[in-house]
Amino acid sequence: MKGIILAGGLGTRLHPLTKATNKHLLPVGTEPMLYHPIKQLTAAGIHDILVVTSTLHMGDIVRCLGSGDEFNCHLAYCVQETAGGIAHALALAERFCGGERLCVLLGDNVFEYCIEPYVKAYSAQSSGARVLLKQVGDPERFGVAALDEHQIIDIEEKPSQPKSAYAVIGLYLYDETVFEIIRGITPSVRGELEITAVNNVYIQRQQLQYSFCRGRWTDAGTFDSLFEANRILLENRNELLI
Ligand code: G1P
Repeated sequence: MKGIILAGGLGTRLHPLTKATNKHLLPVGTEPMLYHPIKQLTAAGIHDILVVTSTLHMGDIVRCLGSGDEFNCHLAYCVQETAGGIAHALALAERFCGGERLCVLLGDNVFEYCIEPYVKAYSAQSSGARVLLKQVGDPERFGVAALDEHQIIDIEEKPSQPKSAYAVIGLYLYDETVFEIIRGITPSVRGELEITAVNNVYIQRQQLQYSFCRGRWTDAGTFDSLFEANRILLENRNELLI
């Protein structure tokens, strides 16, 4: 399985912290934010990792992370020239994946516990995709899952009236059909290729499974969530709980 870390975007909600640097290089706990997804992937046994980011900050990100030696992995880098959304960034990983399955992490998501169990659950799945759900107090900020007793029946991106409190968070496990799916989706009203549109195609194909996220989780795209990300990682000295 290949690892993909998406670290693009403009980070505008964090201005002026992101005026001169990329959001994913800001400190979280005792380390730059991007150390966390790298540690998560390697702890899950994934050592071949592609980092996708914008042209503007690629140099700083390579300076920060290097070849991957320090993390016992191999890092490759890819430039996303326009901020076209998460699915747009993911499309750039097709050649890197070479037909293998992929574990995608959003570079600003912090998971208190190691992601290995979700990766294992996906490896045991014969096909399709797997997402991670977390109950949150502010679901309107996220992709939100509507569930029946057995499965996810629909995901809505940033709904004004969420159908549940379950956010679909930034760990996505896909088979190689994800790239054909991305080619078939169209931009949302905010002009982005949404990862939620991709996940909804897997739902239509009855190919989307899910796990519930253990422990604390947060994104780090706003001042409040960045503070929470710092709290989680600092309390654990940037170690992943098993
Ligand atoms: C993105 C996704 C959203 C997901 C969230 C998790 O939102 O679009 O579906 O729930 O990441 O962090 P964004 O960070 O672009 O607001």
